[in-house]
Amino acid sequence: MLISPSILASDFSRLAEEVNSIENAGADLVHIDVMDGMFVPNITIGAPVIKSLKDKTKLPFDVHLMIEEPIRYIEDFAKAGADIITFHIEAAKDVKAAIDAIKKAGAKPAVSIKPNTPAEAVFPYLAELYMVLVMTVEPGFGGQSFMPQTMPKVKAIREEAIKRNIPLHIQVDGGIDSRTVSEAAENGADIFVAGSYIFKAQNRKEAVSLLKEKAETAYPY
Ligand code: DX5
Ligand code: ZN
Repeated sequence: MLISPSILASDFSRLAEEVNSIENAGADLVHIDVMDGMFVPNITIGAPVIKSLKDKTKLPFDVHLMIEEPIRYIEDFAKAGADIITFHIEAAKDVKAAIDAIKKAGAKPAVSIKPNTPAEAVFPYLAELYMVLVMTVEPGFGGQSFMPQTMPKVKAIREEAIKRNIPLHIQVDGGIDSRTVSEAAENGADIFVAGSYIFKAQNRKEAVSLLKEKAETAYPY
């Protein structure tokens, strides 16, 4: 069970300190949300900001691209220090080519699906992937409510991976807190993104530990 705090909920004017704070709190990864104002109606940060953070932390960078035709920027993000690169299947014309580009750039490939995209959309690529990200909110903004109707997709992907003997991480992102984390783990998720829940917590260390504990207890596979 891995916890990946989303810096979208952090204080951008103190980004390095914020990343250090979650590292000290026991986070396993840093989740970095890249939005282009086209695929989603919001603009966040790009490769130069990621590059400037790279030597400030030992945590691996979990980069979530919410951009049209992600293949155009994969090399830039890998060079900037992305360890995992996730792109949206809905945004890529050639999904296989984007996965290959991520591998070639030396990062771990992952694809993401929005709440209305079926689980089966990722099945043809499972054997090539490090991780699938099942969005539990509509991508674009932090602080939204978890959508429980996405849970059957997590379960379907976990069962398909087990059936085909594929070691796969399944990440959930959006509205994850001490309650929804259990539901997601129960259905087979093992990497949990949390923005508001961790960055707005009084005690970030307790928040990270609680998520991990609840996930470990609920995960049935
Ligand atoms: C939404 C982003 C999420 C977001 C999660 O498009 O992909 O990573 O920051 O934020 P919370 O945990 O506040 O829902
Ligand atoms: Zn995200």
